[in-house]
Amino acid sequence: MKKKIFITQKLVGNIESFLEKHGFIVETFEKDRIITKNELIKRASDTDALICLLSNKIDREVIDNLKKCKIIANYAVGYNNIDVEYAKSKNIVVTNTPEVLTDATADIAVALILACARRFHEGNKMMRQGKFKGWKPSLLLGYDIKDKTIGIIGAGRIGSEAAIRMKAFKTKIIYYSRSRNYKLEKKTNAKRVSLNYLLKNADIISIHVPLTEKTYHMLNKENLSLLKESAIVVNTSRGEVVEEKFLIELLKKNKIFAAGFDVYENEPNVNPELLKLNNVFLLPHIGSATFETRTKMALLAAQNVAEVLKGNKPLTPV
Ligand code: NAP
Ligand code: GLV
Ligand code: GLV
Repeated sequence: MKKKIFITQKLVGNIESFLEKHGFIVETFEKDRIITKNELIKRASDTDALICLLSNKIDREVIDNLKKCKIIANYAVGYNNIDVEYAKSKNIVVTNTPEVLTDATADIAVALILACARRFHEGNKMMRQGKFKGWKPSLLLGYDIKDKTIGIIGAGRIGSEAAIRMKAFKTKIIYYSRSRNYKLEKKTNAKRVSLNYLLKNADIISIHVPLTEKTYHMLNKENLSLLKESAIVVNTSRGEVVEEKFLIELLKKNKIFAAGFDVYENEPNVNPELLKLNNVFLLPHIGSATFETRTKMALLAAQNVAEVLKGNKPLTPV
């Protein structure tokens, strides 16, 4: 009997034909919205493999209902949406999509940094409202990037690429991370520091840790108060790493200069206070959203599924 793969939403590219060529039956959720938990449980109960999104919560209840499933392939590098330990206890392999999205996501971190430092939101708004009345010496002044200290939180794949990009702006790099990253130090002369030192001394902070029990609210009321008044904070990792309401408080009171968000604490809901602020730049979680990257992520997820269903090792297990 042919093995079945369920995909929770149409991905970029045509992995259906790749998987069908391998002799599998592919079923994709037909609607252009996030599948509900009940729908997912119903549709995936007899599937041999599940390809899911970071916006699908794969908790114990869902896993208990995956009666035949051998692999959960997340269409993302972050896998905090999946109860990995529980899946493993049920002999289900979990895979993610590392590497292929590193550059695209690092680009978005840099884009947010520039958008914040040079006040893109206010400039864009001014243009669209027809309020630009000519060049002025002090119109929308921001900060130079050159000579600033960049603080990378989580110097893994994406954090390192963000640091390398920022180094090209003639900056100094400091980082806080679980392990020492000798490669990054060699490439950028980066110095490893404590989290508090980083928050106190960095001009620009870019967050790249995964969301885990240890990183949940890693930036909180207490340590956010260490930031400089000119600080810029950008987050392209997961919203829950930052205690968002305190960051918003600082932004509201102009206790920091600006913040750039690609991710939010209660995604897809956005704190309405954020929408009122001019010193923020907001993106809808598009770190990996390029034609090339999303196509590669889909192929990697499909390859992981094909290998596991053929009894082989996955390419990128978590
Ligand atoms: P990665 O290579 O695993 O890098 C994460 C880094 O964080 C590693 O260096 C890791 O340390 C460090 N770290 C983990 N826990 C820590 C802790 N408790 N304290 C200090 N440092 C810690 O992952 P990646 O590929 O760069 O991806 C990072 C995250 O970005 C993903 O998990 C995902 O949430 C997010 N992401 C977002 C988008 C987007 O669209 N915005 C796109 C892709 C990824 P070790 O070196 O010791 O492992
Ligand atoms: C995106 O957020 C990812 O983790 O791949
Ligand atoms: C600005 O446009 C300049 O020419 O300096």
